[in-house]
Amino acid sequence: MIKKIAILTSGGDCPGMNVALKAIVNAAINNNIEPYVVFEGYKGLYDNNFEKITKEEVKFIDRKGGTVIYSARFPQFKELEIRKQAVNNLKAEGIEALICIGGDGTYMGAAKLTEMGIKTIALPGTIDNDISSTDYTIGFNTALETIVRAVDNLRDTSESHNRINLVEVMGHGCGDLAINAAIITGAEVLSTPERKLDVKQIIEKLKKSDSKRSKIVMISEYIYKDLNKVAQEIEKATGQETKATILGHIQRGGSANPIERLLTIRMANYAIKMLIKGKNGVAVNITDNKLNTKDILEIVKMKRPSKEELLKEYDKSI
Ligand code: F6P
Repeated sequence: MIKKIAILTSGGDCPGMNVALKAIVNAAINNNIEPYVVFEGYKGLYDNNFEKITKEEVKFIDRKGGTVIYSARFPQFKELEIRKQAVNNLKAEGIEALICIGGDGTYMGAAKLTEMGIKTIALPGTIDNDISSTDYTIGFNTALETIVRAVDNLRDTSESHNRINLVEVMGHGCGDLAINAAIITGAEVLSTPERKLDVKQIIEKLKKSDSKRSKIVMISEYIYKDLNKVAQEIEKATGQETKATILGHIQRGGSANPIERLLTIRMANYAIKMLIKGKNGVAVNITDNKLNTKDILEIVKMKRPSKEELLKEYDKSI
């Protein structure tokens, strides 16, 4: 029976990380497991920066955005010597298992620790929704809500001023935020990694659009080098004033919405249940509203699911 576990959040933070932390701490203590928190993700494991945590300390953190135990990108964790130090630090404290909340980089770190004798369970924590084994990642729903509210605001002012607005959203190579936000907000044009448009194609679509005044062009990050330049080209070709808005890290902040909180609590409780059952080196998924686990090493090799259905949905909606 596992007596001590540690919890860490790693990679880009997301709404729901604190919800996950609170739920894991509660579920662990309810099962007579002592929970520890690691500060700043894998960097904290290496720095020996962890401490015991109580239910009282996490009581109100679920209402907060970000992650109260901090996060970090720590590429040095790929080095064996660094990982050995981290494992030694955990063992010295008698910690046998680790719950890692984050995206694919976090999953890789967890898989490596499993190979080195630490039991690991991962939870998908990223706004990008780019973990192939799960329908939803923690943080996606709230980030999508933030984007929709922002685009609705842009629509107001664009309509008043008869403008085109380019909106760039995050996703790290995955179009889920952009496609879903485009469907919800009725964006006139959409360009994502799965269906990239060049500037000429954007202009053609804008010229053909039924919208008389405002037009929103939803764009995933990393497609165009300079969004302001794209806006200038569009303005020149269409004769309509064009602005560019990069939503940026605003999308990562804020407290998790109720659906996100519910999903996260379910995932966290399931993670503890699976750990007690003896699962190791797996991540928690939700598919067709059912919780399940899959080997992390299998997950990181999985192909991204096709976005064709979702893109068709967008095509039908404009
Ligand atoms: O993975 C989450 C994410 O916000 C991506 O959408 C984005 O590409 C990246 O992180 C940004 O990373 P950073 O905060 O390190 O600039």
